[in-house]
Amino acid sequence: MVIILILLFFYDDNDEEFYTNIKEIKEPNNITVLVNKNNILPKTYIPNDLRLINNRYAYSNKYLREEAAINFENLSADAKVLGYRIIATSAFRDYEYQEKLFNEYTNSKGLEYALLCSAKPGHSEHQTGLAVDVEGSNKDYDEFEKSIEFNWMKENAHKYGFILRYPKGKEYITGFKYEPWHYRYVGIKHATNIYNQNITLEEYKKRLNN
Ligand code: DAL
Ligand code: ZN
Repeated sequence: MVIILILLFFYDDNDEEFYTNIKEIKEPNNITVLVNKNNILPKTYIPNDLRLINNRYAYSNKYLREEAAINFENLSADAKVLGYRIIATSAFRDYEYQEKLFNEYTNSKGLEYALLCSAKPGHSEHQTGLAVDVEGSNKDYDEFEKSIEFNWMKENAHKYGFILRYPKGKEYITGFKYEPWHYRYVGIKHATNIYNQNITLEEYKKRLNN
């Protein structure tokens, strides 16, 4: 834990400290948009193509952007044929909702821990409508890694355009604790590249820009 905290304090590649030199995102609709502790979405940003995820594959009232919703439903439907259960527990969250979550985390767990687990409002990629948290057969998103679905997701999510966004061991780059349940839609081509190169979205975007 102490090591993770030390690593989290420094952004290894360019010494960019988390929640400093924050840039406002100019193209929030870009499918590979990078939202993290150093890149903030406009407070009022809400994607204009949000679509309700079919309730066979999600708890009620879970929305993703159209393209992400279609691909998530395909993923979940194909998994179901194989006997797996992959259900969206959280998807689009607006700025105000994220603010409420972050404050709840801070009040119950303390600021230090909240910063590792929950994004400050404007810094959550759930606000893009491209991120989804899932649960498996054990019906506990927090224990998703222990579900039979996790291994399938690890090897197949990219085929539907999703990446495991906060991998184990990359906390010093992403700024967040390992989240086996959180997947981000970036489209099949980019997700496959990221999967094959075994890198984070932060590293991938940097390579694209160089
Ligand atoms: N739990 C992720 C980092 C979020 O709050 O967006
Ligand atoms: Zn999430």
